[in-house]
Amino acid sequence: MLIFCNYYYSGSCGNKKSGEQKSVIVQPDKTEIDKPEKNQTNNMANHPGKKVYESACLVCHMRNGSGVPGMHPPLTESEFVNGDPDKLISIILKGLSGKMEIQGEIYNSIMPPQAHLTDQQIADVLTFIRGSFGNTSGEILPGQVQKIRNE
Ligand code: HEC
Repeated sequence: MLIFCNYYYSGSCGNKKSGEQKSVIVQPDKTEIDKPEKNQTNNMANHPGKKVYESACLVCHMRNGSGVPGMHPPLTESEFVNGDPDKLISIILKGLSGKMEIQGEIYNSIMPPQAHLTDQQIADVLTFIRGSFGNTSGEILPGQVQKIRNE
């Protein structure tokens, strides 16, 4: 009788408990998706360029800069992001199209021009992406954007 009760207790209550624990563990996984700071190299969490990124770029290049393979290229380990600032600024002002290969994926899509953003906003967003997603390149100033816009 005693053995039966012990068995019964651990069988029903024990299982119930571990079942409850499992459903608690699922929730933190969901919030992982919305944790941008995880992939940021420098202290960019409060940079003004982050807001610009969220409203003008995130929809295609994704929160962590990963892009969407075959559709929107990644901003991680990108020679465009980390290379010549003038070229990068002109991609934002004039957009980009045509076939290109980035990290082994072919992209043949269209990035619309973002010239509606101010020089300050473009400088901020480019400084943000050059210091986020594992990138460690330098700041872009509004004057550099103005120069390319006037060319
Ligand atoms: C509507 C979707 C869309 C939006 C919005 C967009 N892009 Fe793009 N972006 C693309 C596509 C598509 C390409 C590749 C174009 C091609 O295939 O020739 C690209 C290419 C790039 C590149 C060069 C390639 C690379 O991966 O480094 C950079 C840099 C870039 N985008 C930055 C930005 C920034 C910064 C913003 C916001 C100010 C932005 N994009 C907004 C779709 C978008």
